[in-house]
Amino acid sequence: MTREQKIWRLRRRCGNIGYCDEKTCKIYAKCVNLGYTSFEQLSDEKINEMYNEVFGGTQITENLTGVVKGKKRILDACCGSRMFYFDKKNPEVLYQDNRELETTLCDGRHLLIKPDVRMDFRNMKYEDNSFKVVVFDPPHLAHAGTGSWLAKKYGILPKDWPTYLKQGFDECMRVLEPDGLLVFKWNEDQIPLKKVLEQFGYKPLLGDQRGKTRWLVFIK
Ligand SMILES: C[S@@+](CC[C@H](N)C(=O)[O-])C[C@H]1O[C@@H](n2cnc3c(N)ncnc32)[C@H](O)[C@@H]1O
Repeated sequence: MTREQKIWRLRRRCGNIGYCDEKTCKIYAKCVNLGYTSFEQLSDEKINEMYNEVFGGTQITENLTGVVKGKKRILDACCGSRMFYFDKKNPEVLYQDNRELETTLCDGRHLLIKPDVRMDFRNMKYEDNSFKVVVFDPPHLAHAGTGSWLAKKYGILPKDWPTYLKQGFDECMRVLEPDGLLVFKWNEDQIPLKKVLEQFGYKPLLGDQRGKTRWLVFIK
């Protein structure tokens, strides 16, 4: 991460030097000692010190930012077995899921869930505005036997699915660039799309108007 990115994050988190307080700011004492010096006037060493204190070290973010800043313009926030990809190893896509699984389903099909990054879509460790496209195809089933092939393949939603999906959607929007596109897939087998969209509170640009499986596009 560059010095400028660190300053940008510090500023967003801490507000302006001199206007924050002891309770809300981890580096309050350091800032106060600096008087009203702006971040830009500080040495790299001081910026790094403050950044590490506020964000608890840089390792994960550095690694992921490196990946994102490389060729990965697209994030799949819950890729599962990458079924709908024409190229399941597309170098432009960062494939993410919160689990890994390799098994044989009851009908003999091989199931492999092996994301590049194991992470929860409700709390992602990427910078704001990192991706041009985000794909969001979360679990759509609230009821399915825990050992069933459906649960293995698609995962199951928790009881509080409205909050779960809303948090995922908000995170996807956060890491999406302004003007970026969010591709959302939903299957209406158990929960109507209308109910899900009510949670998101964001109007899609376009999408399927009927059918059980719906593809929608949102623009940030
Ligand atoms: C409907 S499936 C995705 C199918 C995928 N699009 C495909 O083409 O195979 C939903 C996926 O969301 C993942 N998932 C569920 N909760 C998640 C979370 N909190 N963070 C990341 N992935 C999650 C599940 O493990 C599951 O693989």
